[in-house]
Amino acid sequence: MAKTLHVLGIESSCDETGVALVALHGDDLPRLLAHALYSQIDMHQAYGGVVPELASRDHIRRVLPLTQQVLRESGRTLAEIDVVAFTRGPGLAGALLVGAGVACALGAALRKPVLGVHHLEGHLLSPFLSADPPEFPFVALLVSGGHTQLMRVDGVGRYTLLGETIDDAAGEAFDKSAKLLGLAYPGGPALAILAEQGNPSAYALPRPLLKSGNLDFSFAGLKTAVMVQARKLAAAQGCELEKLPTTVRADLAASTQAAIVEVLVKKSIAALAQTGMRRLVVAGGVGANRKLREQLNAECAKRQVRVHYPEMHLCTDNGAMIAMAAAMRLQSGQQTASAVYAFDVKPRWPLQLL
Ligand code: KG4
Ligand code: ZN
Repeated sequence: MAKTLHVLGIESSCDETGVALVALHGDDLPRLLAHALYSQIDMHQAYGGVVPELASRDHIRRVLPLTQQVLRESGRTLAEIDVVAFTRGPGLAGALLVGAGVACALGAALRKPVLGVHHLEGHLLSPFLSADPPEFPFVALLVSGGHTQLMRVDGVGRYTLLGETIDDAAGEAFDKSAKLLGLAYPGGPALAILAEQGNPSAYALPRPLLKSGNLDFSFAGLKTAVMVQARKLAAAQGCELEKLPTTVRADLAASTQAAIVEVLVKKSIAALAQTGMRRLVVAGGVGANRKLREQLNAECAKRQVRVHYPEMHLCTDNGAMIAMAAAMRLQSGQQTASAVYAFDVKPRWPLQLL
């Protein structure tokens, strides 16, 4: 009978400190025992974006109390941890070093091996924690704050890039457009809420690279188009951009969301057609967007394509996805944990180079 391994995961790549414990038993899908998260959003909001130095300092404050919380909630002890996993990159260098440093110190103290995880692989595999986990192979739409990629996924660690953004990520387009509309950081969820009261066809915004014939994206021009439209409206009303009436801002928010979502949906469908695959997995923060889910569900249903998402609360950064990715890498034999505690981090690290 296979022994159950307990994998602790620590996420600290940006503005969320996440810790989780998963149990890995034989060939079964690893099971999440507990996870705890502290979001720094309130702290960074005053600055309109993430301040890297403040992020690192806050991870230091949070990571051990969160670890204690996870152990308490899972009913496990420090001594029962078999592997300590951490986010090795990509992300903010100082923030990553906190998680890596704590993980390696814990590993050394407990005489247990450590394992560095790719943050995007964490997102990519996070739907395996859901009540409706996917099966390999599938097309993945990875939409986070810094990345927008379509990948062909044949198994753990077997990722082929099909297309990606040539400039801004979809999350960035949400965040930058939201900022223009006077919404607080992080703008994506706030823009989505405002968009609910608006008319998505109020303004004709561009659908960049929709007809490019490949699977690449470009969102930088969209943000500029939103700015030009907002300035026009503000000039017509004789007011500041942020003072535009709520109905106008809601229409602009809905039109922006519609443009981003249409491009993401059409390119995902094109990727499915190109690969001949019948399964789509959506991962990353923008995967929490309800309009995106609604439209992907509708288009996939028409084509008998199964679509899988992470649980809503596991779309944005968290420790569960890091513990899960580590467990799945160990299980698939893609990686072994190491008892060398001289760690490094990779602030820039393309997933396809994993
Ligand atoms: O994956 P994530 O938590 O962090 C990165 O790895 O980057 O993604 C964060 C991104 C932000 O751009 C945020 O605005 C966006 O995900 N986001 C959303 C929603 N929730 C989070 N964008 C649109 N609609 C949402 N509901
Ligand atoms: Zn992320």
